[in-house]
Amino acid sequence: MAGTAVEELDLPLFDYLDPQLRGEQLHRVVRDLRERGWLARAPIGYVVLDREAAEFFLRAREAVFPGLKIAELFGVPEGPLLEQIRRNILNLTGDSHRRLRNLVNPFFTPRAADRRRPLMRELLAALWEKLSAEKRCEAVGALCEPYPAQAIARVVGAPLADAPLLERWSGLIQQQFDGPALLARRDEIERACAEFYEYCAALIGERRARPRDDLVSELVRAEQEGDRLSDVECMNLVLNVLVGGVETTQAQLAHALRLFATHPKQWQLLAERPELAGRAVEEVLRFEPVTPFTARLLERDVEFRGVRFPAGTVVMVCQLAANRDGVPGDPDRFDIARPPGGPRTLAFGAGIHYCLGANLARVELEEALAFLAPRMPNLALDGEVVLGTVHGVYGVEQLPLRWR
Ligand code: HEM
Repeated sequence: MAGTAVEELDLPLFDYLDPQLRGEQLHRVVRDLRERGWLARAPIGYVVLDREAAEFFLRAREAVFPGLKIAELFGVPEGPLLEQIRRNILNLTGDSHRRLRNLVNPFFTPRAADRRRPLMRELLAALWEKLSAEKRCEAVGALCEPYPAQAIARVVGAPLADAPLLERWSGLIQQQFDGPALLARRDEIERACAEFYEYCAALIGERRARPRDDLVSELVRAEQEGDRLSDVECMNLVLNVLVGGVETTQAQLAHALRLFATHPKQWQLLAERPELAGRAVEEVLRFEPVTPFTARLLERDVEFRGVRFPAGTVVMVCQLAANRDGVPGDPDRFDIARPPGGPRTLAFGAGIHYCLGANLARVELEEALAFLAPRMPNLALDGEVVLGTVHGVYGVEQLPLRWR
């Protein structure tokens, strides 16, 4: 390879671990870096900032998601958590990854997601009943957390009453991607994995005896060219769906409501034209993706744009910056009436690990926004918004809202 070694470049620094990196500050920092080039140095590696570079590293065959590396660095011992990390679809590559995706993809097509719309409306109506009279709420606890947790419980095939339990496990097990949390709460995360496996094994047994219209029943039945999923594979896929699908959609809905509460004309437009719900979801995903960063670990040397990245380098991909690249008009403006046909969002990643639940998440979010916009006129913030960190999933901790 003839390119310049990345460590020899004079690059701007990006402090990914800065606790102030959220809200407007996050956007300012990322915009500033983006203006200075496509590459910056981060505490644990490098970060790429434009669309082409983001797609290149997300799709690179020489790169893997660094889940196993995080487990190794933070000393996760043999046990249910390590077993789960080894089997997590995000950490698989090649044939073993392809095989699982081929078996589960049919349950997450746009059509399969569309069939869930009545369920989404039913869940929203039940949650709304408790809220409509008040005209104010703390939206994270009242809407954004319960709705996706209930939706995933029903899609998976667990009783609705177990949604809080599944949400608790998924929240804890999700922390496998967050090194410091792994150090601080490892026993609790281990316990959550073991409890989940026990719960899911029982659910698989029930559905094998009496199949229904849900993911567990379909996974138990899933077969392609004589290839079947084992119970262990089934359990881990259900877990991947939970871990991938609860916190992400919760956070994305909360950011959506926060954006609309601070862009009242856009909310009014959506209430008047519910057919814009699909475009509203795309704009929220473009403007404030809840995975503003993901990462890849290079297993072999890689050269890109004349820069040599040695094997072992961690390359962070900034989806937040990449999503604004090549967008016609002003990319820093939140505008749900943006003409369709702009570049596709990177909020769901790209390449072999492209989000399994993208269609389901879009339907969940679309139904929620179309349902809420006409029912919450004059939506506004009703106190201080508390934002989470950008490590892992960028969430909202508190979102006080009012409407009339
Ligand atoms: C707004 C909501 C969501 C966002 C922003 C999101 C984002 C992402 C991203 C960025 C990735 C790729 C990560 C990488 O390559 O480094 C991913 C993968 C994944 N997502 Fe989602 N996700 C969402 C909802 C869901 C839902 C509802 C499910 C449930 C099925 C789900 C399940 C998964 C799974 C299983 C993977 C791993 C796929 C693989 O490795 O092949 N996600 N998601």
